[in-house]
Amino acid sequence: MKLEKNINLKKLNTFGVEAFATAMLTIESDSDIQQLTSILPDYPKRLVLGGGSNILFISDYDGLVIKNEISGIEVISEDNNFAIIKIGAGENWHNFTQYCVDNNYSGLENLALIPGTVGAAPVQNIGAYGLEQNSCFERLIALDLLEGGMVELSRDQCGFQYRDSIFKSEQKGRYLITHVFYKLSKSTSVNISYKELSQRLKDNQISQAMPKDVFCAVVQIRRSKLENPEIIGNAGSFFKNPVITQSQLDKLLEKHSEIKYFPFGEDFKISAGYLIEKCGWKGKRIGDCGVSEKHALILVNYGKASGKEIFNLSEKIIESVQGKFNILLKREINLVL
Ligand code: EPU
Repeated sequence: MKLEKNINLKKLNTFGVEAFATAMLTIESDSDIQQLTSILPDYPKRLVLGGGSNILFISDYDGLVIKNEISGIEVISEDNNFAIIKIGAGENWHNFTQYCVDNNYSGLENLALIPGTVGAAPVQNIGAYGLEQNSCFERLIALDLLEGGMVELSRDQCGFQYRDSIFKSEQKGRYLITHVFYKLSKSTSVNISYKELSQRLKDNQISQAMPKDVFCAVVQIRRSKLENPEIIGNAGSFFKNPVITQSQLDKLLEKHSEIKYFPFGEDFKISAGYLIEKCGWKGKRIGDCGVSEKHALILVNYGKASGKEIFNLSEKIIESVQGKFNILLKREINLVL
């Protein structure tokens, strides 16, 4: 266990913004967790950090950052059809999806190349190309930072929704996830319902897609249209796609018949990237921050932008989308004050 004081978090968030934390503790094992519990009373304000890929620091953090680096991928049970895999929360998510396709465990291939750690995946219920992590999620183990002691939480208890879970809402800050369990299939059936994905497979001249083909196609799509945080600071989609009711949609279509929408349960999901682009923001730069030229849902840091500047830009975007379309965009990323 490593406890450091006055730590610059610039390299620990994919936006690459500067922010100092009072203290940071890196945990790598169960024994580190025991030690962590002993220093918790000294730090009432705490933040669990994984890959830092879904977070924006708006100011310095006057508390304890707990950097989760618990590793390990272990098949704990297996039959002819399924395997249950236990993964340390600090493992890199993409490496885990690579492990799955390499070992013929299917179900998560659509989620290749999503930045961040395995422990962060349930927090915001990561999803892409027609699939969310909750479709394979089995359970997780976490340290309860409020009551003390380890707890096990089932899929139902995690309250997964579109880019949301109890860890982002009513239980925010309460749990330190240490291990996640996924139930993966040994079949080769795949989900290629997302239009752009099936089109890419066609372009790749693949008629009977295997999980590995889907994995490769997703990697290709993401490399071509999303911003790589290793090249330019960003945290993926900054906003959620808004979900609106049938009557809101009808009203919207009266004025904007061209708008794109997708059925979402009984409601409809609107493409936030489309709304932002139509407000003229795509590729715009203010100082050292801006809206990606590739994808209007992604805000970028060209180098020296502060978290506050990126936040201010996001406020302006929300205001103009509200003004033009009467739709309130909600941020997908975690803001840390
Ligand atoms: N679009 C535009 N302009 C843009 C970008 C998108 O008009 O600049 C429109 C296009 O019509 C496009 C549609 O938006 O067809 C959908 O775009 P895309 O397929 O890129 O998906 P998205 O809805 O913008 C969501 C997720 C992404 C995920 C993709 C693929 C959210 C908030 N974002 O984006 O997740 O990779 O679908 O499934 O749901 C992330 O969470 O960080 C993330 C990247």
